[in-house]
Amino acid sequence: MTIHAQAIRKLAPANYLLIEEEHVRLGKLLHDLHETCCNLDNLLSCHSCSSAKIASCRGRLPSYIHDLIDLIDMHFYHEESIMLSRPQVTVEYKYFRTHRQAHDNIMQELKSIAGECNSLDKLERTAEGYRHFYKKISDLFEEHDRCFDDPFIQSTKV
Ligand SMILES: [Fe+2]
Ligand SMILES: [Fe+2]
Repeated sequence: MTIHAQAIRKLAPANYLLIEEEHVRLGKLLHDLHETCCNLDNLLSCHSCSSAKIASCRGRLPSYIHDLIDLIDMHFYHEESIMLSRPQVTVEYKYFRTHRQAHDNIMQELKSIAGECNSLDKLERTAEGYRHFYKKISDLFEEHDRCFDDPFIQSTKV
């Protein structure tokens, strides 16, 4: 994450601010999952919580998933637009195509994750749904930053 933060500063100020703000929003959304589910960092079920708390968690899970998909969809659009605004980058450019393909793959993956979380919730395994959501999203974006965003941002130095 440190390398990512350093690399990002090399972008034009407006682009830097936009990408930084969206990465912060993604981090905040993941952080909010901790505020909601008491069992995110353990393996307990919802039986350790009151029925009111369980109802609130169940109600909020679909909103988190919906907000995340919206945020990521917009973020990928912005990132691709910023890439294409660079002089040497076109839609045919290999690194643009592979990066965009990775975004498309993540969007597909997000839809699968959403379905898996809903299924867990329907089985009253809501805490497991939260943990699944948190872990999958964290891993996906850690890998994406390392493989695509960081190298792209580093390339804006030249
Ligand atoms: Fe990206
Ligand atoms: Fe990004």
